[in-house]
Amino acid sequence: MRTTLTTSPAKAAEFVRRGIVAFPTETVYGLGASVFNEAAIAKIFEAKKRPADNPLIAHIASLEQIEELATEITESAERLIDVFFPGPLTVVLKKSERVPDVATAGLDTIGIRMPRNELAQEFLKACGVPVVAPSANLSGRPSPTTWQAVYEDLNGRIDCILQGEPTEIGMESTVVDCTAVPPRVLRPGAVTIEDLRSVVPSIGAEPVDDVGEVRSPGMLHRHYSPRAQVVLLKQDDAMPDLKSSGYIGLSKPPMTARLEKVCMDVDEYARSIFQFFRECDRLGIHYIYCETVSETGIGAALMDRLRRAAE
Ligand code: TXA
Ligand code: MG
Repeated sequence: MRTTLTTSPAKAAEFVRRGIVAFPTETVYGLGASVFNEAAIAKIFEAKKRPADNPLIAHIASLEQIEELATEITESAERLIDVFFPGPLTVVLKKSERVPDVATAGLDTIGIRMPRNELAQEFLKACGVPVVAPSANLSGRPSPTTWQAVYEDLNGRIDCILQGEPTEIGMESTVVDCTAVPPRVLRPGAVTIEDLRSVVPSIGAEPVDDVGEVRSPGMLHRHYSPRAQVVLLKQDDAMPDLKSSGYIGLSKPPMTARLEKVCMDVDEYARSIFQFFRECDRLGIHYIYCETVSETGIGAALMDRLRRAAE
């Protein structure tokens, strides 16, 4: 398959009539298809080599589109949508019959999110339908924060890439199950638990239900992994020899690493991590040392991704 590269959201949207298209959002790049096109949705799973039991998030351009996707908007969802849409939050609601089972991996719920990135909004508006999209990487690889990362993983496997800027946040959306009482975070992300609780104080932070079952299938799969071995460095850990390794963190290491990134703050760390993993892989680096951060604010999502990458 030939993959068309374009900077035109209208042109990219034309490919959504039949096929699958990668597009930027404020979090990471997504790989989209019309929520009503079962054949195209199947192609997403094939192109990414994604396990069929992992549901997709529906991306919308207007609040009205929620009615095409969900049967009921719970009270907590309404409050969260009011404050955080458009933005890096996904709310999980009971799905409407019109949504095909392939989109939600057979679940009776659907994740819905309205990106705030301008190019994403223009693209979704031009599509005219909700667009289901996972992150636009090969399954298990670091999420793509540039169109070049999408190209690296998926050129020749998808119909089109809408070329935008590197993503602003670099970490995926927060997924909140609003069908649960009280609602709970299924995946920590760009909207912090502190932010969420300022709107719905009862929100649970653990992605398990009353019987201890993990509610978000995606959390069970191997994730975010560079080919290199990721090693977490805590405050008091002895500094390893970094000569031939990668290092990323907030503090400057005492010796020079082969590839080194010292970030100004946790936001920059979160924004850079996936791209840094990919750069290390390109250099054939075997070990990537990542300084741990405090699990507040976006630090909770960053530590979640670092831990999974280090597994
Ligand atoms: O920021 C993001 O969320 C990006 C951009 C493209 O929007 N998308 C993204 O999608 O990260 P993906 O497919 O890589 O991760 C979606 C996560 C998975 O962990 C999946 O299991 C969970 O959301 N999820 C989706 N629908 C769900 C549902 N109905 N119930 C529970 N978890 C769901
Ligand atoms: Mg993903």
